[in-house]
Amino acid sequence: MESQDIFDRGNWGSKVAFVFAASGSAIGLGSIWRFPIMVGLNGGAIFVLCYLLSVFFIGLTVLLAELAIGRHSQKNLVGAMKLIKPGTPWKGVGYMGIITGVFILSYYSVVAGWAVGYLYKTITGAFRGEVTWQASDSLFRSFAADPLAVVICLFIIIVITTFVISKGVKGGIERWSKILMPVLFALIIILSIRAVTLPGSGTGLTFYLKPDFSGFNLNVLFYAVGQAFFSLSLGMGTMTVYGSYITKKENLVSSAGWVCFSTTLVALLAGIIIFPTLFHSLQLTPEQFKQEFEVSTGLMFQAFPIIISKMPGGYIFGIMFFILLLIAALTSTISMLEVPTSYLVDEKKWKRKNAAIVIGSIAFVLGIPSALSNGGVRFLTKANFMVIMDLVFGNIMLAVGGVLICLFIAYSWKVRNSLKEISIGSKSYKLTALWAFNIKYLAPAAVILIIVFIVIKNIL
Ligand code: TRP
Repeated sequence: MESQDIFDRGNWGSKVAFVFAASGSAIGLGSIWRFPIMVGLNGGAIFVLCYLLSVFFIGLTVLLAELAIGRHSQKNLVGAMKLIKPGTPWKGVGYMGIITGVFILSYYSVVAGWAVGYLYKTITGAFRGEVTWQASDSLFRSFAADPLAVVICLFIIIVITTFVISKGVKGGIERWSKILMPVLFALIIILSIRAVTLPGSGTGLTFYLKPDFSGFNLNVLFYAVGQAFFSLSLGMGTMTVYGSYITKKENLVSSAGWVCFSTTLVALLAGIIIFPTLFHSLQLTPEQFKQEFEVSTGLMFQAFPIIISKMPGGYIFGIMFFILLLIAALTSTISMLEVPTSYLVDEKKWKRKNAAIVIGSIAFVLGIPSALSNGGVRFLTKANFMVIMDLVFGNIMLAVGGVLICLFIAYSWKVRNSLKEISIGSKSYKLTALWAFNIKYLAPAAVILIIVFIVIKNIL
């Protein structure tokens, strides 16, 4: 039993175990790689502000909703919708989530693969001595353009993820994340202290933390909401599945609060490392940065070698950082693969191993164009294929899934029934009225309006 456990419908050992596991899913490349890119593309601190508001008003609301659906039904999202409202089209939200998850897994694994490549480079001494922006930039570009390297790295990530999921190893995930997440956290704090003490870090911090309200527009909001969904693993049923392993004793509200808090903190610290480092080595003003600097998908990989080279004992720090980043990414890819796998196992009675291998293989094949697209190869479109996948699945589809989950609760399962589930284990939930308002009106209306405006603006 011990090695088969949760994914055979056991339960998390305790609330702490759940918070660690769910944070393990949430904390990953979304916070450390994707968040800084979004900040860089969307005007700096104004984005950070919109992101924080989105996490609090929308992310936390949807997270609690997914956990409640999961714990109530003890099922994946498709099964849950079938159980709560049999014979209705709501199960379609679950199917949509499964498809979205496979697509996100495909390009997410490419970036996780870059961490494998960078770990190798760090070990073999590529970042010894002073690393300048120019050196780091060209190193990233040549690495991302090496088709064999990126596809092999992608393959490694998919194989590890598939292996873990096919074995169903809760014990392993729990134990690993309990030890390694705090270590990652400590390392990030140390690196951020180094970053803010670099000469010239002040301009970076200004860009990152002092909002320029004139830079606000709908795009900023759109990407902020998308980032909130992405970083909290929402909108496709991941947190529903994780919620289905929580016992009735636990407090869903405080668990959700902890997951949001820890994830947001890691994202904020990642920015504290990256922006001062970039501004230090580029010596740009925030205005120049906005106008001249081309933010690429490699932002984090371009910045970390620089800061690592400025640490005493940088070689060891670098190795530790990329190992921990890799583990943070793997706990996320594992949670993504778990959604389609648990669907095939629970609903279609597939063998876990077969389900994991089939879905893993599909994700690998879908990932190849993303892997190759950062080296200048173009597929179908003029833009980078991976960026388009991320826009469609990582932003739009998650937001649509999130809205549908809100509408499901508000108008089908009903807020009072979901509140009954939430109040088990958390009797004194004071923000009930706020949550009910958010899930019925604020979250769905805000997200629908943003998406409609973005579509109108870009298509008409
Ligand atoms: N939240 C994870 C991260 O930030 C990625 C992730 C895992 C995810 N599961 C997900 C994103 C489900 C969207 C949906 O790295």
